[in-house]
Amino acid sequence: MGRLSLLPSLALSLLFVLGSAEAQLRIGFYSKSCPQAESIITEEIDRAIRVAPSIGGPLLRIFFHDCFVRGCDASLLLNSTSASNPTEKDARPNQFLRGFALIDRIKARLERPAPPPSPAPISLLSLRETSCTRPHGRRDGSVSIDTEALRLLPAFSANISTLKSQFDDVGLDSKDLVLLSGGHTIGNAHCFTFTGRLYNFSGRGDNSDTDPSLERNYLAKLRAKCAQGTSDALKLVEMDPGSFTTFDNSYFKLVAKRRGLFQSDAALLDDADTRSHVIRLAESDNSVFFREFAEAMVNMGNIAVLTGSQGRSGRTVPASTREREKRGLIVLSASCRE
Ligand code: HEM
Ligand SMILES: *[C@@H]1O[C@H](CO)[C@@H](O)[C@H](O)[C@H]1NC(C)=O
Ligand SMILES: *[C@@H]1O[C@H](CO)[C@@H](O)[C@H](O)[C@H]1NC(C)=O
Ligand SMILES: *[C@@H]1O[C@H](CO)[C@@H](O)[C@H](O)[C@H]1NC(C)=O
Repeated sequence: MGRLSLLPSLALSLLFVLGSAEAQLRIGFYSKSCPQAESIITEEIDRAIRVAPSIGGPLLRIFFHDCFVRGCDASLLLNSTSASNPTEKDARPNQFLRGFALIDRIKARLERPAPPPSPAPISLLSLRETSCTRPHGRRDGSVSIDTEALRLLPAFSANISTLKSQFDDVGLDSKDLVLLSGGHTIGNAHCFTFTGRLYNFSGRGDNSDTDPSLERNYLAKLRAKCAQGTSDALKLVEMDPGSFTTFDNSYFKLVAKRRGLFQSDAALLDDADTRSHVIRLAESDNSVFFREFAEAMVNMGNIAVLTGSQGRSGRTVPASTREREKRGLIVLSASCRE
């Protein structure tokens, strides 16, 4: 049994304080259950955002990459102990994650002297009302395997059927897929994650070999930013140009206009169900996106730990409420939602 360690998980939950001057989305919340932890977390994240306003993107992505593999158990933070047992961190999809230093710093502060003699601090994705929480902390995982990350994390080139099935594998539906893809309203991407669409979409590699699903003017802009070949491969491009530090529904407006950056973003238009959510969110107020994004984040926060041989054909299965309680995971009851 792992020690009851709220700390790394706590640190990860902070991510929900996604800040920007214009829009603030707070999902994680400890005010009643563990006020000291919340203030430490908020303070550190606020400070980091002041220094580097773009830190919200990397943190949100870390949370996603942790949750998709064995649930949000902080297994992504584990370092490999030898070359023969690479961890999730070492897997290709995790190669460019940033923000670990901030999480380590928060963890260090939370671990320092005695943690407050509080009611059992509450973990992840928490809760607006203490009365809604179960008095358990979340346990950290002690298992972290690179090949699981490789298998479970969606690729930028994924088509809609692969995306739906990878989300389904962790118990998320196509609405969650659309809402969570909205995380791409903030952050940056390296050129190499989409240059295939600009220069070599079908493998011919000639100058006209572009992705027909990408809007022409946007294509030209991206080509101007990211030259063909390797010279610009590691250059960073704003995923939501002009509002990449603002958490808003502009991602959906762009995707609806065929200006999604990755093939996986564009793919959301290839299915009647996901497409209708994209259009609906593009045409709604931000408040609709904020509310539904928060719900989808809660769903992602509840992804179960991979149960191995117990799991259906090794899939990550959504845990029953009872299982989650047993494992000390937090359950957010529907009545807590705003
Ligand atoms: C649906 C499948 C998804 C795919 C294929 C995908 C793929 C990617 C890729 C390729 C990048 C660029 C990474 C880089 O070049 O460094 C990226 C960035 C990002 N992704 Fe996703 N993603 C997906 C879903 C999500 C979800 C569910 C979230 C969170 C809710 C998310 C949040 C982010 C954020 C915030 C960034 C920017 C990171 C930064 O600024 O450093 N993505 N994603
Ligand atoms: C992993 O290694 C990095 C440096 O290599 C270190 O800063 C970090 O604290 C380590 N993380 C854990 C969880 O041991
Ligand atoms: C989607 O991608 C998968 C994996 O690359 C492939 O096997 C499948 O045929 C593709 N589906 C469609 C509809 O293109
Ligand atoms: C284009 O893609 C094909 C197949 O994916 C690859 O073999 C080829 O080397 C690429 N060409 C260029 C110019 O990158």
